[in-house]
Amino acid sequence: MISYKAIVTGASSGIGLATARRIHADGGTVALLATRAALLEEISADLGERAYAVPTDVSDPDQVAASIARCFELLGEVDLVVNAAGVDGPAHLADLGPEKWSRTIGVNLSGPFYVSRECALRMKAGSSIINIGSELSFMGMGLYVDYCASKAGLIGLTKAMSAELAERNIRVNAICPGPVDTPMMESEIQWFPNPEEVRKQAVDRVPLKRWASPEEIADAIVYLAGATFATGAAWSIDGGTTAI
Ligand SMILES: NC(=O)c1ccc[n+]([C@@H]2O[C@H](COP(=O)([O-])OP(=O)(O)OC[C@H]3O[C@@H](n4cnc5c(N)ncnc54)[C@H](O)[C@@H]3O)[C@@H](O)[C@H]2O)c1
Repeated sequence: MISYKAIVTGASSGIGLATARRIHADGGTVALLATRAALLEEISADLGERAYAVPTDVSDPDQVAASIARCFELLGEVDLVVNAAGVDGPAHLADLGPEKWSRTIGVNLSGPFYVSRECALRMKAGSSIINIGSELSFMGMGLYVDYCASKAGLIGLTKAMSAELAERNIRVNAICPGPVDTPMMESEIQWFPNPEEVRKQAVDRVPLKRWASPEEIADAIVYLAGATFATGAAWSIDGGTTAI
């Protein structure tokens, strides 16, 4: 078991929260970044020592620069960064205007870039960055044009940063989950007029016939963080959705 000094974005909910809890339970120190300050403070207080709430909108480069500087002050050094903050939400092309497009790209693609760049400038050899992609990094899905574009772009960002940072032995990888049982997934399902039917379809299309728990994705993140010869990898943890 490795005790990381970690920054986790999107740490107030779902995969980010499960990852922050897992790192903390392993004896690590964790800075939790997300937008909902009060909730983040509550979670951090609940974790207790070795947990720090650093409210941040990852799509704002100035906030990110200030927050990452603060994280390095609080933690001393950082050996793992997990970019889990993300937004989702189906939309017909007719409703996908520049505002929603920019928001999705801003949080899901620019956010990991801003955070990773600020961290990479300060991180030491042996550290790693893990971006949370999606099965939709590799597949197209109607109603998810902005999301698919952001998550496909994240693989390019992962590979290019891994290439540039390899000489400093800083590794950059991606985990690409299929459906995970989180508030994001639930609100997506509720967008449809027939949520129960959509929920059933969303389970049926997974070869393993279920969704992942956020804790299963956190397990994979910690495993990949310890895989010292892996860099530039995009690891599908999707119950088989991209295998068929
Ligand atoms: N749930 C799934 O089925 C699934 C599948 C594949 C990939 N993912 C990806 O996993 C990641 C986590 O998703 P989740 O399901 O846990 O979602 P979630 O909605 O439960 O949590 C998202 C987190 O991101 C934070 N966030 C949103 N906008 C932010 C911003 N501008 N700045 C900082 N934080 C912000 C939220 O506060 C929250 O903490 C996302 O990148 C998502 O795209 C999720």
